Amino acid sequence: MIVRAADPEEYSDIFDLVDAAFKSHLERKIIRVTVREDSHIQPGDLRVVSVDGKVVSMMMLLRRPLRVGTAVVNGAIVAPVATHPDHQGKGFCSAVMRDAVQYMKAQGFDITILWGNPWLYPHYGYSPAMVRTELVVKSTQKKADVKNPYQVRPFVAADVEAMTRIYNNNTARRTCAEVRSPAMWEWKPNGSEVELEVVTDAEGEVIGYWSLGTDWGRPCAHEVGVLNDEACGVVFNRLLETAKTKDVTEFYCIIHPDHPFARFAFRHGSEVRIRSGGGAGMARVLNPVSLLTEMEKELERRLHHSEFHDLEGTLTIVSEETVVLHIDHGRVSTDTETVAGAFQLDIPLPSFNPLITGYLDIIELVKRPHVTVTGGKHALRLIDVLFPAGLPSGGFLPLVWE
Ligand SMILES: CC(C)(COP(=O)(O)OP(=O)(O)OC[C@H]1O[C@@H](n2cnc3c(N)ncnc32)[C@H](O)[C@@H]1OP(=O)(O)O)[C@@H](O)C(=O)NCCC(=O)NCCS
Repeated sequence: MIVRAADPEEYSDIFDLVDAAFKSHLERKIIRVTVREDSHIQPGDLRVVSVDGKVVSMMMLLRRPLRVGTAVVNGAIVAPVATHPDHQGKGFCSAVMRDAVQYMKAQGFDITILWGNPWLYPHYGYSPAMVRTELVVKSTQKKADVKNPYQVRPFVAADVEAMTRIYNNNTARRTCAEVRSPAMWEWKPNGSEVELEVVTDAEGEVIGYWSLGTDWGRPCAHEVGVLNDEACGVVFNRLLETAKTKDVTEFYCIIHPDHPFARFAFRHGSEVRIRSGGGAGMARVLNPVSLLTEMEKELERRLHHSEFHDLEGTLTIVSEETVVLHIDHGRVSTDTETVAGAFQLDIPLPSFNPLITGYLDIIELVKRPHVTVTGGKHALRLIDVLFPAGLPSGGFLPLVWE
């Protein structure tokens, strides 16, 4: 079985394959927009296996900077993955995905994330490592007070810079959030079925936006962006209005609890829901040394706010590869040379992935077989400070594809 880069002449085969596998046209759109318009794509990012000259299985990766705390690392979002129904259950997907992991490592990615079947991706080193969160606006809630004049209008291309700034600002503290660029195709080229609108202030500046569509058949807001409380009020009232128009008692908004709009709506009586246990949001560390090197400043920030701000010591992390963190009075540096007497964390990949994203903390993970901490309580606490629990969530496809 040879896994290789897709040839552009095979794209129509691939579209047919994903239509048949998913019974929807969404995945075809994802691939079409990416291969045509994503300026980051490299020829090997769409990988296939063929039988008798016909593509039977495929995967694609999207190159995106991803946040881990305040660090920005080299990320690969995997979407979609499919095998033609006539060829399923014969090991094609495994061949493609195992090859893809090697490819992503060789391409220098730090981490890969995806949303997918929890039974499938652990075969390739992924583990549940992200949460799905949503905000619920109830049609019975009271409207928010909006004092200043504003205007609502459909999105136009000139809005993309302001919207990108708002998006990156609203997601700046969320681990696994992708950093977006103002490239038009990341937002809304022609043909999108999403209703994308912006709100402007009295000076005509964009202060917020929302995209309305459906998620698994339910009306929802895929994304909102807000610059300030004024924008929050307008967005809130628009969602409330939509809930009434669509005649739903609960209107969903896919949003992180840390998002300023989630906080605003929460204060106005909405519910924030965090779904755990599904395991569909997954991550896999690819290059731990480069990942932790990219995270050095973030690790320093975490230490700075703890009793270890003045620590001199070393932590060796043994997972798929070994990484050594040297901590010197608040400074962190990374290498691979082990040091005698250092604190040590032995952690297999399925536990290292959620530790890195903050989906699970070391206190929970150390209960798992094969996760061991050498250095006693002090070492355990240091690891907890370096890798605190949070609510990682990202890898959402840009609005264009809905
Ligand atoms: C999911 C899908 C991609 C799997 O493709 P496939 O080529 O049939 O998969 P494979 O035969 O390579 O099997 C994949 C792995 O899952 C294992 N597996 C298969 N069925 C399983 C099951 N029901 N439970 C647990 N593991 C299972 C296989 O043993 C194999 O693992 P291994 O290589 O470690 O032995 C394919 O069924 C598909 O295209 N489905 C529709 C689209 C879709 O759901 N895509 C994924 C979206 S997240």
